[in-house]
Amino acid sequence: MFNKVTHNILLALANGDFCSGEWLGEQNNISRAAIGKHIQALQKLGLDIYSVTGKGYCLSTPIDLLERDAIIESSQLSDVPIQVETVVGSTNDLIKQGLLNKTIDNKTSGTTIFSEAQTAGRGRRGKEWVSPLGASLYFSTHWSFEQGISATMGLSLVVGIAIVDALVELGVPDLGLKWPNDIYYQGRKLAGILVELEGQGSDSCDIIIGAGINVKLPINVNQKIDQPFADLEETGLDLNRNMIAGTILRYLINHLKQFEQTGFTTFVDRWHEYDCFIGHHVQLHMGQRVVDGIAGGVDAQGGIVLNIDNKKQSYFGGEISLRKI
Ligand code: BTN
Repeated sequence: MFNKVTHNILLALANGDFCSGEWLGEQNNISRAAIGKHIQALQKLGLDIYSVTGKGYCLSTPIDLLERDAIIESSQLSDVPIQVETVVGSTNDLIKQGLLNKTIDNKTSGTTIFSEAQTAGRGRRGKEWVSPLGASLYFSTHWSFEQGISATMGLSLVVGIAIVDALVELGVPDLGLKWPNDIYYQGRKLAGILVELEGQGSDSCDIIIGAGINVKLPINVNQKIDQPFADLEETGLDLNRNMIAGTILRYLINHLKQFEQTGFTTFVDRWHEYDCFIGHHVQLHMGQRVVDGIAGGVDAQGGIVLNIDNKKQSYFGGEISLRKI
């Protein structure tokens, strides 16, 4: 259950003030018991709400809710269709649906959907992407490639570079990139990228770029994430989510425009600046196959280069994972 009343309660609680059940009930013309049900719905979406007898409900920490105008202002982009949702299954799926039912024009690149929460957030290799309400950033951007799938080699790496560049502008230190598209903070995963192909005509193709950036994860989330992770809260910087969203979008759109013109070649050096696995002994897992080597960065197409028995070999592909050993 998430409806207008649930949204009103979210707005009322967002600044961290106490709101009594009675007051919330009066504001929404429903009983206190019914308010309790909406509170439970918000808690189920990952919002940390507690209650104090005689005072009412309160968030454990205030949240800066996403606002379309504030994102547009930080993005400095005037011509990109941006949509902000509160709860969706997956923002990647919402873009897909929009392309299928033609509410999103597949000829125009850049349509972006942000959501406060996802109930079916997806990561790579079929994993869940834990997406609690108001805790992080979840968004997807549509991009059309006129020259088809062959023009997208290295795309997901460019998205990683865009996110890093945006975070660097915001003052975030100690960032790293892990091939093919994870962003690290102090050696732990801060953000992930899921690039999916939707329509493939004879020439062009539609790409959906989804990204999740951990901003302020709730404490209980560590039971659900199966690898060391970090969030932006740890940096100690005072970062507003709308500012982060707008800044990332600005770099993403600009980098994608450049990528359309030049391909991955002009991004190779930038990648190497942040590649935190170069020189490390790594394993590449490709289904049943495992390859050992020394990571040597990426090639001009975005493939990972491994030094195996003094021979350089590039590897590509969606299901490859990389482990420091
Ligand atoms: C990964 O590292 O496994 C990729 C994570 C990608 C998560 C984002 S959140 C927004 C978009 N919607 C999804 O369902 N997934 C991506």
